[in-house]
Amino acid sequence: MPFTIAIDGPAAAGKGTIARALARHFGFAHLDTGLLYRAVGAIGGDPVAAARGLSPADLERDDLRSSEAGQAASRVAAIPEVRTALVEFQRRFARAEPGAVLDGRDIGTVICPEAEVKLYVTASDIVRARRRALELAADEALILAELRERDARDAARDVAPLRPATDAILLDTSDLSIEDALARAIDYAKAVGA
Ligand code: CDP
Ligand code: CDP
Repeated sequence: MPFTIAIDGPAAAGKGTIARALARHFGFAHLDTGLLYRAVGAIGGDPVAAARGLSPADLERDDLRSSEAGQAASRVAAIPEVRTALVEFQRRFARAEPGAVLDGRDIGTVICPEAEVKLYVTASDIVRARRRALELAADEALILAELRERDARDAARDVAPLRPATDAILLDTSDLSIEDALARAIDYAKAVGA
């Protein structure tokens, strides 16, 4: 049976960093599901058609990391048919042997409700904006406004809103280094059999 690790949380909380490192540690596959929504937003046109026709090459575009791509992703991610079109790909990925780590907003609640490990990674919005501004060499105040707008939209949408699964472990990284956050995540995954 494959082992699944679901990681959710708000923008720039450290989900991807922890997910990648966990996957490397355990020899699991990793899927950054935010890239799916970023690619659908970047393709433009009819988002439902873009989601249904999404190909691996679409995830390789080099314009997906920007703030604008994040905002476009959050808008298309509120469309129920877009989400439905992406479910099967994510669930198939989650069945990879010997295991898979998926990070996003609805992995523990909708995509993989049976995941062996569910982490809800968070940090204060000030800390998250500082980290993302450093990463993108962008203005911290602008990034903070963008993150707040995106988190509010993601949490308020009707379908698959951003929220911790009832059985998720909360990992607040506001005062944690990447190494410390990762060590806690590894300990927890080992404790439940990874
Ligand atoms: O995937 P998500 O948007 O949640 O966040 P990320 O891209 O993994 O992390 C955002 C930024 O915060 C990156 O530059 C990480 O290196 C940094 N980070 C950090 O400084 N401390 C942590 N405990 C986690 C992430
Ligand atoms: O890295 P960051 O946390 O800033 O964003 P991301 O994970 O790349 O996600 C971009 C946007 O896609 C989010 O703001 C959500 O609106 C959407 N998303 C989603 O709805 N469900 C997911 N599983 C992943 C992302």
